Amino acid sequence: MNRINIVGAGLSGLSAAITLAENGVPCNLISLQQSERAQSVLAEGGINGALNTMGENDNTENHFNDTIKGGVFLADPNAVDGLTKGAPGIIRRLEGIGVPFNMKDGEIVLRNFGGQKKKRTAYARSSTGKIIMSAVIDEARKHEHSGMIKRYPHHEFIRLLIKNGSCTGVRIRDSYSGKFADFKGIVILASGGLNGVFPGMTTGTTQNSGDVTATVFSQGVILGNLEMLQYHPTTVGISGKRCLVTEAARGEGGRLYIERGGEKWYFMEEKYPELKNLMPRDVVAREMFFVRRDGECGDQVYLDMTGLPEDTWKNKLSDLREEIIHYLSIDPKTAPVPVKEGIHYFMGGIDTDINHRTNIENLYAAGECACQYHGANRLGGNSMLGALYGGRTAANAIIDGIKNKTGFSDEEPEFLDISDEPFAKEASSVLIEKISEILLGGLGIVRNENDLKNSLEKLSELEKKPRNEREKNRIALAFAMLLSALERKESRGAHYREDFPEKDESFRKSGLAVFDDGKIRIEYREIPERRSE
Ligand code: FUM
Repeated sequence: MNRINIVGAGLSGLSAAITLAENGVPCNLISLQQSERAQSVLAEGGINGALNTMGENDNTENHFNDTIKGGVFLADPNAVDGLTKGAPGIIRRLEGIGVPFNMKDGEIVLRNFGGQKKKRTAYARSSTGKIIMSAVIDEARKHEHSGMIKRYPHHEFIRLLIKNGSCTGVRIRDSYSGKFADFKGIVILASGGLNGVFPGMTTGTTQNSGDVTATVFSQGVILGNLEMLQYHPTTVGISGKRCLVTEAARGEGGRLYIERGGEKWYFMEEKYPELKNLMPRDVVAREMFFVRRDGECGDQVYLDMTGLPEDTWKNKLSDLREEIIHYLSIDPKTAPVPVKEGIHYFMGGIDTDINHRTNIENLYAAGECACQYHGANRLGGNSMLGALYGGRTAANAIIDGIKNKTGFSDEEPEFLDISDEPFAKEASSVLIEKISEILLGGLGIVRNENDLKNSLEKLSELEKKPRNEREKNRIALAFAMLLSALERKESRGAHYREDFPEKDESFRKSGLAVFDDGKIRIEYREIPERRSE
């Protein structure tokens, strides 16, 4: 039996690797960069779990309900059931491996986060991702030492190896030597979100280029809910990307306002008196878009954190303050911060079942590259949770399927010069920029048929020129995203159609993009009933 191959060494890849190793199943951890530079390191605000340490009578059922409602009933309730029930144990395990969460009187402190009625987000100041990753990376090291996890950093995914409809491995290129090797065996994709499809426009790293998803799509892997892009309400533009101003700022009391008639209008507080500035992200982002469009208002929304207590700055948001001073030369303690919506997360991606199996046998996907748990809108704090839980679930599904956990081959794959590998040539940066511009024309916060058709026409023009494989695959992925948005003739979560502004129950289905014989079609699959409570 071959080692399991994990593509991606962020939180979901590490979680899968550690789970496999702990169960005696060795794996290869293959990644373009070291784990220390994975997207997960950039997560700021926290990780959700109903620990109920704040005396609010919280429980996993509340977490389940908020996640399902936040995702506007598009997530698989059985998957969310497992996620939310697993969350407290995951946070306790992180605590056990030394993650220094903010604590009080010996207990983990929880903060408010968007779309949740209880304090449920465990955090380490406002650098939670970096701090969690540091402990998880260290945990993985034990298994690297024993040889159960074998790392291949600076190795790039080229394509899947597929035989008779089943995944037999993955072709990889060593970024330094340029040589290729075929890693045989079961594959888990943990390659992150589609940030590189929108260069400069997302809060994520463009090292998550989207090439893995685009390539596997062209190889027959089904993608789900591609229209569901999350715009985070509070980002600021810095060189080459959008910088996240964590939702924790609002969780700790920050307020959004816009100037109207010479006064500050705290529009979220007026429009949504229950959750106020902490409505789910899709709602906040849309409201910011609408107030800016309102002729009576200014064109800049501000985040006002000037009233926050000293203790909050010192112990909860110190890193955020430093970051804002560093990038904007504004001290948020004394002056409001101009903010704008920015692409932050991809709820859609590789379609998986509850065990993270894709439609291709022996191929799994977990973390942000997968479409699971978040439906039409992800709650803040559920992404690191989804990555850790998803990676573990995929690994457990594989472990369950292995009868004899001995005799794993330790043969090194042979690295060869392959001059005619068709998937290896990079897509041109000019084309990538062009595709991004076209996509943004159709997939903004507010969408309509006209804009989507217009974008599809422009994409068809791009398709006419000769292209290499990666370019063709990126264009195909872009078509799939636009078609998914065009076909969903309703408004739900992150997908708001001004020509269909209401939710339509007949669309409470997973949208599936299928690439078949060079053609893309969009299908729908019913959302299953919840099996148990
Ligand atoms: O705003 C934030 O800190 C983001 C957190 C998340 O996306 O989970």
